[in-house]
Amino acid sequence: MSLLEELIRSIDEIKKAASEEIGNVASISDLEKLRVTYLGRKAELNLILRQLKELSPEERKIVGEKANAVKKELEEKIREKESQLSHTKEKKEIVDFSLPGKKYYVSSEHPIQKLINEICEFFIGLGYEVVSGPEAEIDYYNFTALNIPPYHPARSMHDTLYLSESTLFELEGTEDELREATRKIALLRTHTSPVQIRTMLRKKPPLFIVAPGRCYRRDVPDATHSPVFHQIEGLAVAEGISFSDLKGTLELFLRNLFSQNARVRFRASYFPFTEPSAEVDVSCIICGGDGCRVCKDTGWLEVLGAGMVHPNVLEEVGYDSEKYTGFAFGMGVERLAMLKYGIPDIRLFFENNLKFLEQF
Ligand code: DAH
Repeated sequence: MSLLEELIRSIDEIKKAASEEIGNVASISDLEKLRVTYLGRKAELNLILRQLKELSPEERKIVGEKANAVKKELEEKIREKESQLSHTKEKKEIVDFSLPGKKYYVSSEHPIQKLINEICEFFIGLGYEVVSGPEAEIDYYNFTALNIPPYHPARSMHDTLYLSESTLFELEGTEDELREATRKIALLRTHTSPVQIRTMLRKKPPLFIVAPGRCYRRDVPDATHSPVFHQIEGLAVAEGISFSDLKGTLELFLRNLFSQNARVRFRASYFPFTEPSAEVDVSCIICGGDGCRVCKDTGWLEVLGAGMVHPNVLEEVGYDSEKYTGFAFGMGVERLAMLKYGIPDIRLFFENNLKFLEQF
């Protein structure tokens, strides 16, 4: 076989093999490999063109033209295949708008935080400042400075979670020594009242503050108890503050929170840090005072503790109790939220169930 015949046969074979492979290729990347194999610098067709110089001028023309024609043809085939493959890829990515969409949740404020903000806004409107204190507290601020000395029975009413290994119950000493020892005992605050002490220690009267925050008690969770809960503390100290200021403030607050038609009553009570002390009731927001399941047929709902700041508390922080008087109040935010929104179980606030939280 002459070289001419040999080269022509090779070109035909290349064309046949390449056409077949291009026809069968299934991905763009495999097609790219074929392009390199058949049309790249080291491709057989190019090797053939390099042998042209061994042919006569007429033969050169025949082989050259044929090789170039096949090259063009293969290029065209690859281009066609390429557009075919990229087209099928596009098709796969088409979005089916009839499919149900993914649900995205827009975050919202937790109902407890929402209520805290609402209550703080109200008191800001009356000129109060919002302050805060630590959740890990010392016994002295949580109890002693609030006129709850060591061995005061009120301590056992707060089921305290202690952080210190040794508590007051293991210590011995004089009353004064034990009072001092309470500065070294750490606990999780059982109420927000220690913020009263912390604020008075760093500010002079007149003083009007509210202090929202988390509190802890060693309680077993049930429908109305949670070991973690929130309170908002209020404190007003200035010259000439009287019990009627307290009554006016809380009446305005509770009517604003529940209903302008709500009635408010003060019942004599006892807290170590206030004298006189009161528990504050609002007429039942469910039955309007007629009696129902929520108010246990009394027509009233207990919503707050309050009173005039005990002189011992003022003296403890270095305030002159002859010159200054004050009132204080404290409320449980979960309890208020349960009443306001008709929620039957306090645990719902801590379960983070979106179906529940989304309602607020
Ligand atoms: N600290 C009290 C408690 O946790 C609530 C309270 C009652 C706060 C009367 C006060 C107050 O400031 O005057 O039960």
